[in-house]
Amino acid sequence: MSVADLSTPLKFAYWVPNVSGGLVVSTIEQRTSWDFDYNKKLARIAEDAGFEYALSQTRYAASYGADKQHEATSFSLALLAATEKLKVIAAVHPGMWHPGVLAKFIITADHISNGRAAVNIVSGWLKDEFTNFGLEWLEHDERYVRTEEFIRVLRGLWTEEGYSQAGKYYDINNFTLSPAPVDVPGRPHPEIFFGGNSTAAQATAGRVADWYFSNGKDLEGFKENIAGVQAAAAQAGRRPRYGLNGFVIARDSEKEARDTLREIVEKAHRPAVEGFRAAVQEAGASTKDGKGMWADSTFEDLVQYNDGFKTQLIGTPEQIAERIVEYKKIGVNLFLTCYLHFQEEVAAFGTDILPIVRELEADAARKAGVDFDPKSTLALHEPSKAGV
Ligand SMILES: Cc1cc2nc3c(=O)[nH]c(=O)nc-3n(C[C@H](O)[C@H](O)[C@H](O)COP(=O)(O)O)c2cc1C
Repeated sequence: MSVADLSTPLKFAYWVPNVSGGLVVSTIEQRTSWDFDYNKKLARIAEDAGFEYALSQTRYAASYGADKQHEATSFSLALLAATEKLKVIAAVHPGMWHPGVLAKFIITADHISNGRAAVNIVSGWLKDEFTNFGLEWLEHDERYVRTEEFIRVLRGLWTEEGYSQAGKYYDINNFTLSPAPVDVPGRPHPEIFFGGNSTAAQATAGRVADWYFSNGKDLEGFKENIAGVQAAAAQAGRRPRYGLNGFVIARDSEKEARDTLREIVEKAHRPAVEGFRAAVQEAGASTKDGKGMWADSTFEDLVQYNDGFKTQLIGTPEQIAERIVEYKKIGVNLFLTCYLHFQEEVAAFGTDILPIVRELEADAARKAGVDFDPKSTLALHEPSKAGV
């Protein structure tokens, strides 16, 4: 079954640079800062440029070129308070939080922001962050068992009164969170994004996530990546939506854009990239089928730590817009984007690329005999038959 939704406009998100070093591990000039003032301005630029979401990253210790990190939930809340429309997604590790505490935190953030708080549940791969905090480090697939329970607790506490759930990791007994999240039409609770690529990640996301985030992929890779999510979702009677990461290099000519990519890779911070390669062995590569995030990534790919070059959003605005709409035709609902110079390039994305994307989306819908409504929003949360 095709998951493509040609009638609804694509959505756009950007990675919040809340860790130092930008989004590529390279000594190339990056006019991007991890501090709050820079990020506040960026968030306002982004919402004016047509971005609907921002995603904050969670990291607790220096790693992979990111020597300094701002905590994701507090940073996201501050960005929500500084904006009017932007939805801010905070990344969260189940092993670091109790789901009830997080559910409560997000409800407060949701009220402060009038219904714009969201979470990205990430199961984690930075083993040292857990073990050096004295926390248990679960084996790869077991992390997803905990993640699934965690998400069920979140959703249960956000949508039900007197919620109970007994499981291997959590035991919730007749709990009511009051107030409930803000009542936003078409949104039964704050949106639950999910980042992960391995077989276990896909199956879990299919069963419980509202949104599945994929690392950067080429067209074939993206199709393969979401197949496992779709299979699990279909079994559970659910319909998650799909987000794809991409590093955007838009320049006046394709040559200029490709030259910039070459320079990023030539100036890569080699020891950090190699260190990252070693650390990510804790990710899907450690599982039986060896599939998962970064399992097939080259040195060049790893310079953007979420494989953003693989998506190839590199060229002129026209070329990038065309590529974006090709992905829409195979099921992408949202692009998660990153840049060298965030403020300038997010603004330019809004003026130079987005209008072309909208035209191409209208064309694609017309050719497929589907109505395209530029103002429509995703019917995101279709009722689930699985009780999640
Ligand atoms: C879009 C996206 C965002 C992510 N953000 C974070 C993050 O902020 N912090 C983190 O530790 N891991 C993050 N991850 C990594 C996941 O937690 C997970 O560890 C990773 O996908 C490797 O596991 P896998 O091989 O099971 O897919 C992210 C993954 C994706 C796809």
